[in-house]
Amino acid sequence: MIYLDHNATTPIDGRVLEAMMPYLQGLYGNPSSLYRLGRVARSAVDCAREQVAALIDAPASQILFTSSGTEANALALARAQNRRLWVSAIEHPAVFENASKQPERYLEINILVADSSGKVLTQGIEGIKFQAGDFVSLMLANNEMGAIQDVLAFVEQLKGLGVIMHTDAVQALGKIPLSFRQLGVQLMSLSSHKIYGPKGCGALVRQAGVPLRPIMFGGEQEQGLRPGTENVAAIVGFGKAAELARLEFDQRASLMSALRNRLEQQLKGISGLVIFAEAVERLPNTLQFGIPDVNGEMLLMQLDQKGIAVSTGSACSAGSEHISPVLAAMGVDRGLAKSAIRVSLGKDNTESEIDQFVSVLKTLLARH
Ligand SMILES: Cc1ncc(COP(=O)(O)O)c(C=O)c1O
Repeated sequence: MIYLDHNATTPIDGRVLEAMMPYLQGLYGNPSSLYRLGRVARSAVDCAREQVAALIDAPASQILFTSSGTEANALALARAQNRRLWVSAIEHPAVFENASKQPERYLEINILVADSSGKVLTQGIEGIKFQAGDFVSLMLANNEMGAIQDVLAFVEQLKGLGVIMHTDAVQALGKIPLSFRQLGVQLMSLSSHKIYGPKGCGALVRQAGVPLRPIMFGGEQEQGLRPGTENVAAIVGFGKAAELARLEFDQRASLMSALRNRLEQQLKGISGLVIFAEAVERLPNTLQFGIPDVNGEMLLMQLDQKGIAVSTGSACSAGSEHISPVLAAMGVDRGLAKSAIRVSLGKDNTESEIDQFVSVLKTLLARH
C-alpha cells in the first residue's frame, strides 16, 4: 500500500513502540502510587513531559497530558465559557464544533473569516474592541490545505488586552519549527498520533498563571486540571515520538519538501488541476487539489482499489452534498470543492511512491 494520508494519522514508529512496551507489561504501576512501581511510572510520565516540552520549546511544567488533541481543544475552550469567543472559519471540528454545537456556553461566538488564499487575516480583528477575558482560537496550520496561519501577528495585535489566545498546533507539530515561548499564545493543543506516536494521547500547553476550567473532576492528576489515571504507555510513546521528531526534524522537513515539490511539479501537468492555498506558506507535507468535474470521493475509492490511501481532506459521507467547510470558507467553487483530494506525506514516503501515485491518478483521470 502507498500511504499518503499522514494528516489523518501516522503509523507508530518502531522505536516508539519499543519505548512503550515495558509500560504495557511489567511496569504497570499507577503513577499516583507511592511504592516503587508507581514511582517508576511517575518518572516515565515526567520524562515524556520533558521530551514533549523540548520539541516545542516550553517549560515541562506547562504541559498537561490529555487523551487526544480533541480533548486538549475542549479543555482550552472550556476556559471561554460565559465569555466572548472568536474562532476562525477554518478550524478543525474539534474547535469549531465546540462553539457551533453548544452556543449557549458562550456569551458571544464570532467567526474570523479566511480569504481565498486560505489565510485568516488580522484585518478581521482590527476594529474589534476586545475586553479582558475574551478568548480567541486560531489554528497554527490547517489540516486540509495546509495553510500556515499568522498566529504571531494575532498575538502581537492582542498583546496587553487580557485576551486569551489559543492555537490548535496539532498539524504543525513536528512539521514546522515551533516555539511555545516565542509564539506567545496562552494555550496550545497537541496530539501524539500525527507524529508517529500512539493514538489517544495529546497535550494542552498552558502558560503559567492562565486559569483553566476542568472538564472532568475527581483526581489530582495533571495539576488537578485533567483528572484520571494517566495512560502511561501512550504518554511514554508520545514523549519518544516527540524526541525523535526533534532529533530528526531537519531530515524529515527536507525530505517532505522535496517530495511535495516533486508531487506538485507532476500534478501541474494535469489539465485544469487547482492546488488549494497554493499562494501561501503551507505545511511541507500537505497538498490538496481539485480537478473540475471530478468527484473526489469516487476518485479516492478508485485510488484505494489501486492500493493508494489519500483523503478528501474533510470528513464526509459517501454521496452526500457536503463540501469541506474549510474550502467553503475560502470561497472555493462548490463543484471544485467536491473534487478535493488531500495528499499528506510522511517521513517514510519515497520518490517512487510519488511517481506511482501520479501515474495511477493520470490513468484514472484518462478513463473519466
Ligand atoms: C488540526 C487538528 N486538530 C485536532 C485534531 C484532533 O486530534 P486527535 O485526533 O488527537 O483528537 C486533528 C486531527 O485530525 C487535527 O487535524
